[in-house]
Amino acid sequence: MPLIGTKEMFERANKEGYAVGAFNVNDMEILQGIVDAAKEENAPLILQVSAGARKYARPGYLIHLVKAAEEDSGLPIALHLDHGEDFEICKSCVDGGFTSVMIDASKYPLDENIKLTKQVVDYAHAKGVVVEAELGKLAGIEDDVNVAAADAKFTDPEQAAEFVKKTGVDSLAIAIGTSHGAYKFKGEAKLDFERLQKIMDILPEKYPLVLHGASSVPPELVAKCNKYGGKMPGAQGVPEDFLRKAAAMGVAKINIDSDLRLAMTATIREVFATKPEEFDPRKYLGPARDAIKAVVKNKIKNVLGCSGKAV
Ligand code: G3H
Ligand code: 13P
Ligand code: ZN
Repeated sequence: MPLIGTKEMFERANKEGYAVGAFNVNDMEILQGIVDAAKEENAPLILQVSAGARKYARPGYLIHLVKAAEEDSGLPIALHLDHGEDFEICKSCVDGGFTSVMIDASKYPLDENIKLTKQVVDYAHAKGVVVEAELGKLAGIEDDVNVAAADAKFTDPEQAAEFVKKTGVDSLAIAIGTSHGAYKFKGEAKLDFERLQKIMDILPEKYPLVLHGASSVPPELVAKCNKYGGKMPGAQGVPEDFLRKAAAMGVAKINIDSDLRLAMTATIREVFATKPEEFDPRKYLGPARDAIKAVVKNKIKNVLGCSGKAV
């Protein structure tokens, strides 16, 4: 099966009340950990590459690795550009074999976001590639979550309807209180599910929504990282129950990167601390790959609900 787009994946996810996991790929071990888990769970996958990952691995390398993973696993896999910030990078990924791209123009005023998103949609659709865009700003740990602050930053339902209509974009990333990274909340975790419901009600039925910043930052991984010399005090993610709720409400794509980074780093730290004589990279990258697999398996099976949905 060649790499595929996300249209059918999202249609089925929405119909059956689960979400598809979108996991960030930066190198071979991360990719293999993700795909090994999906293979065991027989789950559909979105593998996403950020501009930073593309630069780090050098354009071309990750595409070939993802194609190899697809051939080896036989799973339905979409290759997605995560947070493309301008037309050029989206065009380059469309031309280079990605099956889905994100244009993230959420930092611009609404009109500019619409204009740039529409430009990418027109180009990508002509080549059979689907597009994700973003409206609203993801929260930061320092952000107040009072009503006025939320209204200023979180996705406005009316604007979402106008945005989707004017751009023809295939899926929309929304801001309801998540943030990127391992420090998502200062105190109690909170997401604006009421706003999510309003957005769903105003958009066309079963329109695919995307939740960025959805790592749950498992406390046991933070503890392991800190035990072996890491320094991540106060790291906190989105509770898994919130993610289950979002998936059941109809969020079609859930983005996870930080949990993979954490699993990898904690495991490598452990090997370095407990086996200081070891200097073969396979002896720490192998366990790191296994740790990523365990994290992804748990997500697919116990959080996203997409086990067995690969066919
Ligand atoms: O949304 C951001 C992802 O975690 C990718 O992060 O730009 O550091 O690769 P990155
Ligand atoms: P996390 O930092 O919560 O893993 O979010 C990843 C993400 O949204 C990638 O686009
Ligand atoms: Zn993101």
